[in-house]
Parts: sequence; C-alpha cells; structure tokens
Amino acid sequence: MGFVNYEQEGYVGVITINRPKALNALNSEVLKDLEAVIDAVDIDTTRCLILTGAGEKSFVAGADIGEMSSLTKAEGEAFGKIGNDVFRKLETLPVPVIAAINGFALGGGCEIAMSCDIRLAAENAIFGQPEVGLGITPGFGGTQRLARIVGVGKAKEIIYTAFNIKADEALRIGLVNAVYPQEELMAKAQKMAAKIASNAPIAVRNCKKAINDGLQVDMDAAIVIEEKLFGDCFETEDQKAGMGNFLAPRDKKVKVVPFQNK
Ligand code: CAA
Repeated sequence: MGFVNYEQEGYVGVITINRPKALNALNSEVLKDLEAVIDAVDIDTTRCLILTGAGEKSFVAGADIGEMSSLTKAEGEAFGKIGNDVFRKLETLPVPVIAAINGFALGGGCEIAMSCDIRLAAENAIFGQPEVGLGITPGFGGTQRLARIVGVGKAKEIIYTAFNIKADEALRIGLVNAVYPQEELMAKAQKMAAKIASNAPIAVRNCKKAINDGLQVDMDAAIVIEEKLFGDCFETEDQKAGMGNFLAPRDKKVKVVPFQNK
C-alpha cells in the first residue's frame, strides 16, 4: 500500500518502506502508511516481522528534510509526535521485529531501527544521527534509545558529532547484532525470523513485554513483571505442547506437537 509494502509468507511478515527515489526518507505520508501496515498486522497469524527498505542503497535516510524545512515550533513538535507514536507502536507490538538494515540508516532511519527488537545490517549500512548538522535534535526517539542501546557516553558522542558510523563499528559498539554481505542480509533475517516463529508465540510475546517493560522500572518491580508474564504462559496449549514434547518418551517415535498460539 502506498509507500509501505507488506508481504507475509507463513508466520513471517516483511514490511518494506518503499520510497527509493528519496532513499526511503520518512515524510508524513510514509509514516501514515507505516502506521496503517503495523495496525493491520494480525498477531494471531504473525510470529515475527522483518522491517527493511526498498532498493540496494538505503534502509531509511531519515525524516524528510524538505517537509521539515518550513515547520513552525508547534508543527515540529507535532511531527516528532507522529514519528514517535508510530515507532512506539512498532517497539511495543506483541510480535518481534527484526530490522534488516540494507544501507543508510541515518536520523529517523537509525531511530526506526532502534525501535526494532533486533538489528541485522548489510556491510554497506551506514548509521548516524546527523540532526545537529541540520539545526535540530534527533526527534523520533534517538536521544532516548541510542543511550539505552550503546550507553550514554557513546550516544552523546554520536549525536553531538553527527559522525556517520560504518556497519563494523556499529557491530563493535552493540548498535547492531550482526553484519552480513548485502546479498545475504534478507536470507539471514528470514532464517532468524523462522527460528523465532518456530517457538511458542505466547512465550516469545511475553518475553518481549517482560524485557521492554522491565527496563523501564527498578529491579524489584521488573522481577514482578517477569513473574506475571511467566505465570501467564502456564495452562496454555503451547506450554503443554512444549513441555509435553520434551517429556515424551525418547525411545518411542512420538509426533512433536506444533505450537498453536493458544
Ligand atoms: N529527506 C528528504 N530527501 C532525502 C533525504 C531526506 N532525509 N535523504 C535523501 N533524500 C533524497 C535526496 O534529496 C535526493 O533526492 P533528489 O534525487 O530528488 O535530489 C535523493 O534522496 C537521493 O539522495 P542523494 O542524491 O543525496 O544521494 P547521495 O548518495 O548523494 O547521498 C545520503 C546519500 C548521504 C544519505 C544523503 O542523501 C543525505 O545525507 N541524506 C540526508 C540524511 C539525513 O540527514 N537524515 C536525517 C534527517 S533529520 C531526521 O531524521 C530528524 C529526526 O530525527 C526525526
């Protein structure tokens, strides 16, 4: 649809930001289409998502500078909220999201990647928060998520200097989980997504929520969040299937019961 494509094969959905002429820069239209695609994801039949950019050059080259250039203070704040709301939806979606970063991930591109659960990069990926060179701050969560992912000192260095970071450096500082040759990136993302999708969906979903919510509170409160979500898995069909598969007599040929998301 519009600037964002969605394709699903089995339990894995691929969201592609599709505005290659502008290196997949995020204008209001792209953000609106992205939100609609995220809202339409059926969490009963989708167990993992991959987010990528169309073309071979860019994942997302940031928020649209042309659109931002004439905004007032109030409009700037409202544009930041639109982006933040969509990215937060992605971050809290009860399905894991793998960013397959196939090129430039600058400004809003780095920020949307950081809203995903796992970041896999192609060797040509370039990261950075160039905003201060444009006279603005990162505005789609960069000042918050980068510090949480790479630490405060490194995040301040990246944001204050606006230096670009190559994929190998992004790997070294923990901004991405792995780096692959460009032509292997989607296959590697698909392989990881398939592995995630093969596990019990309710359990995976609860793990995402436990990690995300637990990071917002102190350890005592975080442990309580974990206990609740751990308990929530019991009595599900998938808990019975998972443990039943393990406990089934090893010497007999017992059919492994697949996970049903129940
Ligand atoms: N906004 C709007 N258009 C963009 C864009 C952006 N962020 N990034 C690239 N484009 C457009 C270019 O204007 C150009 O369009 P035309 O062909 O119509 O002129 C097209 O994409 C191709 O770009 P280039 O010709 O510049 O390609 P290049 O290979 O020479 O350079 C690049 C690639 C280094 C990524 C360069 O395009 C660039 O620096 N882009 C801007 C990156 C940036 O600053 N991003 C942060 C934006 S601010 C932000 O994101 C704020 C926030 O936190 C919410």
